[in-house]
Amino acid sequence: MASRLALLRAAGVNGPTLRARPAACTLAGVQDLPDSDAARRVRDTWNSLAATPWRDFFVASHAGWRDPRLFDAQAAADLGHFLAGLGRRWLARRHVLEIGCGVGRLAVPLAALAHSYTGFDIADAMVQEARRHCAGLANVRLLTGDGTSVPAIARDRRYGVVLAAAVFIHCPRQLIEATVRSAAALLDRDGTFRLQLRVDADDRDAPLVDAAQIRAQQDPLDEPLPPAPAPDQPADLASAVPGEALALTRSSDYGGHPFRVAEADEALREWAPGCRVALHRPERHQLYAVLTRRTVHADAGATPGQAATTD
Ligand SMILES: C[S@@+](CC[C@H](N)C(=O)[O-])C[C@H]1O[C@@H](n2cnc3c(N)ncnc32)[C@H](O)[C@@H]1O
Repeated sequence: MASRLALLRAAGVNGPTLRARPAACTLAGVQDLPDSDAARRVRDTWNSLAATPWRDFFVASHAGWRDPRLFDAQAAADLGHFLAGLGRRWLARRHVLEIGCGVGRLAVPLAALAHSYTGFDIADAMVQEARRHCAGLANVRLLTGDGTSVPAIARDRRYGVVLAAAVFIHCPRQLIEATVRSAAALLDRDGTFRLQLRVDADDRDAPLVDAAQIRAQQDPLDEPLPPAPAPDQPADLASAVPGEALALTRSSDYGGHPFRVAEADEALREWAPGCRVALHRPERHQLYAVLTRRTVHADAGATPGQAATTD
């Protein structure tokens, strides 16, 4: 399945603005650490970013991030991209899992669309804010994760949608692998796992999105989410964010593993066995992946209760 970005791009619309470009920093030395030490480094980074006045900028970097109305509208727009091809009625019956939920920016609209929402984050400070943000929502669970796996409490169900928006672009490879393996194992039979990876900007490989796949997704959500309003005074990121905050993105462990496209393709197939992998690269440094459980057909020779996969 192709990402909705492909659809929107074909229609001349820009993609999500989750773009605190992490290219300046590569988690120096972290890739060689054991998982738990790497996770501690990432947790410390995000707890300290959460304690700055620019927390919401680090969560979603876009002009207008200080304005709650624009922050929410951007969340709705970003979610629209990530939920490409999913009908609202289908979604309403599904459990959704969000990896790296941050302050709960996507939790509120996701909880409204899905049967249940479970979000987890490596940083306690983020989870605390997400709980405040989602207070009163009965179908929401928010948990702190260890940075390598889905928390035990959240392993009680199968998820129709697993989402990791702007999370793995900040992670070393070993944490991405461990988390993707853990979450992919919880995908429902027809579930879909949508995530972003950072790409090595020097890699020229650009995965092509199949035109037939795009046509099959002409109806991304039965009723599209409202578009993000433009800021009254459009500002670029440099003018919307103090230099001190931008400097933090260069000096802290902020940038994730820079995949090559072929490396990402091979890794995701291995980490999510039984899933189709579709990649889309709308920008040089961003790769979007849609992992889809292969369809199970009752007439494909399987006895009841036994899965038979196509493809
Ligand atoms: C840029 S924010 C995005 C938050 C949210 N996905 C959104 O779009 O609003 C990245 C979040 O991922 C979390 N994070 C980073 N690595 C993680 C990991 N291995 N497991 C869980 N959360 C992680 C960070 O603490 C941070 O809250």
